[in-house]
Amino acid sequence: MPSPAELSFERDIKPLFREKDRNSMLSFFDLYDHADVSKHADAIIGSLLAGRMPCDGAWPEDQLEKLQKWIDLGKPA
Ligand code: HEM
Repeated sequence: MPSPAELSFERDIKPLFREKDRNSMLSFFDLYDHADVSKHADAIIGSLLAGRMPCDGAWPEDQLEKLQKWIDLGKPA
């Protein structure tokens, strides 16, 4: 696991989203787009933490922590 300061959307966050996630959510936002995920970060992390999303099974703790850390760092590209 990279140090928090090294987290980047392209390398560390985008790969957390499956193609299925992206396709399912395209009418709301594009999970493969840094600007879109940054803009909707509160709703995205909220639904993940609540276990509402993805619709087919909650994320494991390590993925949730990585996304939260990335948000805390200011959502670096
Ligand atoms: C990491 C993957 C995903 C993320 C971060 C995500 C995030 C979200 C967010 C933020 C919303 C807006 C409503 C809310 O806050 O609950 C939403 C709605 C929705 N998502 Fe997802 N989603 C993901 C994957 C999926 C998948 C795989 C499906 C279905 C196969 C899906 C189906 C839906 C549907 C039908 C809605 C609208 C109805 C509702 O609000 O529950 N999503 N999602």
